[in-house]
Amino acid sequence: MSIKPATSTPAWNGMSAEEIEAQLDPSRMPRHVGIIMDGNGRWARRQGFMERIRGHEAGIDSVREITRACGELGLQALSLYAFSKENWSRPQREIDALMALLERFLYNEVDELNSNNVRLTACGAIQDLPAGCQKALAHTMQATAGNTGMILNLALSYGGRYEIVEAVRKIAREIAVGALKPDEIDEDTLSRNMYRPELGDPDLIIRTSDEFRVSNFMIWQSAYSEFHITPVLWPEFRKIHLLAALLDYQRRDRRFGGV
Ligand code: FPP
Repeated sequence: MSIKPATSTPAWNGMSAEEIEAQLDPSRMPRHVGIIMDGNGRWARRQGFMERIRGHEAGIDSVREITRACGELGLQALSLYAFSKENWSRPQREIDALMALLERFLYNEVDELNSNNVRLTACGAIQDLPAGCQKALAHTMQATAGNTGMILNLALSYGGRYEIVEAVRKIAREIAVGALKPDEIDEDTLSRNMYRPELGDPDLIIRTSDEFRVSNFMIWQSAYSEFHITPVLWPEFRKIHLLAALLDYQRRDRRFGGV
């Protein structure tokens, strides 16, 4: 496919990727970064494509480049919001194309993930995905299970409110069998019962395409996350934009409610 030049690639005050990277403090990298990948449809329209799926397809290149870069920069986890529970209300044609893309991605990416020592995990109502996607997910998770570097966590059929509902159900079952008392429930109990507690809360959440919304993404875990919003559309999001987000993060004063 021939791609027209990027319509918007604002660098960080005109700095090059190398200049931004030189300003980053490796000891103050976020451990866990979440990305709300947005703007695929707009990108496709601006490129003159009739089908929104062309934007999702182009977004795969961004997923690959950003996963690799995050691993190289020493992040422990990267969570990508790939499909929300609300996305099931999109036209069936787009859903089918997205699911086919996901399945292909999962099989095709095994070598790339392994050569970058990245382990794949997922969070969400995975049982809602088509059987082929669930099989591909299980395959790639198993094929990358031995990797010891960064964790790539795909949020699939994911909804933050629903995740909390599921956590409450798990806790209620513990109470029902007498393993827990209501007064023993605290914030840690909730956190432990989220889909992927081992990842820890995201320190930084990036959202592309200039949308200032959380859209039900990790709403429990993002209580103290820093947010970086960029006008860049997801298919155009490259390492330089990631570095700019990391520098923005490092310039914040995280007080967690203190002074
Ligand atoms: C939002 O753009 C993006 C999505 C709903 C899907 C994200 C999926 C990908 C980047 C590709 C698949 C990813 C993996 C990991 C296989 P939008 O369609 O809402 O864009 P718009 O707001 O411009 O319409």
